[in-house]
Amino acid sequence: MKTTINSIVFLFLCSAAMLACKHKGQTPVPSTTGTNNGGNNGGNSGGNNGGNNNVDTGICFTRDILPIFVSNCAIPGCHDAVTRSEGFQFTDYNSIVSKEFVAGNADATELYQKITEDKADKIMPPPPGSPLTSAQIALIRRWINEGAKNTTNCSSPCDTTKFAYAADIQPIFDKYCKGCHSGASAQKGVLLDSHTGAAAAVNSGRLLGTIRHEAGFTAMPYGGSKLSDCEIRKIENWVNAGAQNN
Ligand code: HEC
Repeated sequence: MKTTINSIVFLFLCSAAMLACKHKGQTPVPSTTGTNNGGNNGGNSGGNNGGNNNVDTGICFTRDILPIFVSNCAIPGCHDAVTRSEGFQFTDYNSIVSKEFVAGNADATELYQKITEDKADKIMPPPPGSPLTSAQIALIRRWINEGAKNTTNCSSPCDTTKFAYAADIQPIFDKYCKGCHSGASAQKGVLLDSHTGAAAAVNSGRLLGTIRHEAGFTAMPYGGSKLSDCEIRKIENWVNAGAQNN
């Protein structure tokens, strides 16, 4: 619950943060695999063996945390790099940790307060978006409380020979796409929360080009990192086998 005074202080901090990160907001989002995006950890190196924050030690920023923010918050008109609603941008590590963010303390972190807000008119994401799931909230809480590390070299077990819709494909859409592609506010009317919608996207001929970042297609996930080669291959295999509801 914010008092008016807090809000005023908040606005001052907010303007400062916006100035501070303005040019950083323009840097391209790194790909999920293999690259170190060079993000700083805002002085949260304590407690990490050897001080290397980029090695996957359990919870992993690019694999586990970033997709939640991109799909549910970095929606056009909300917290993408263009709109930055209320000065908050959630497209990459630096933008996420740059404002009202207290690494090591989820309860003192504004974004965490918003995703756990109990007032219906204040919770984020706001309707018609869905609140984050309790599992997503728990993951974000743990990540912040563990120091909000910018872990990038994450192992992701992934088997391209497994591409059944329910077990393998829908979970990819749930993780990377659903926040922008479900319900009444689905972007471009593309629904990726059920087989019917996913099959329609396949039939429109627009699905694979968007995830492969081909010319003539808007790259998906919008504003986020490209899916891993293995995830893309799984979706290709599913499409090539007839995009079945299996
Ligand atoms: C942050 C929001 C966001 C996320 C996450 C997102 N999309 Fe999109 N998607 C959009 C927007 C915005 C458009 C409309 C783009 C345009 O107008 O060119 C769109 C359009 C599309 C289209 C239609 C493209 C066309 O040219 O007709 C497809 C297909 C699509 N997205 C697939 C996906 C897939 C697959 C994922 C997950 C891997 C995904 N999107 C994740 C925002 C998002």
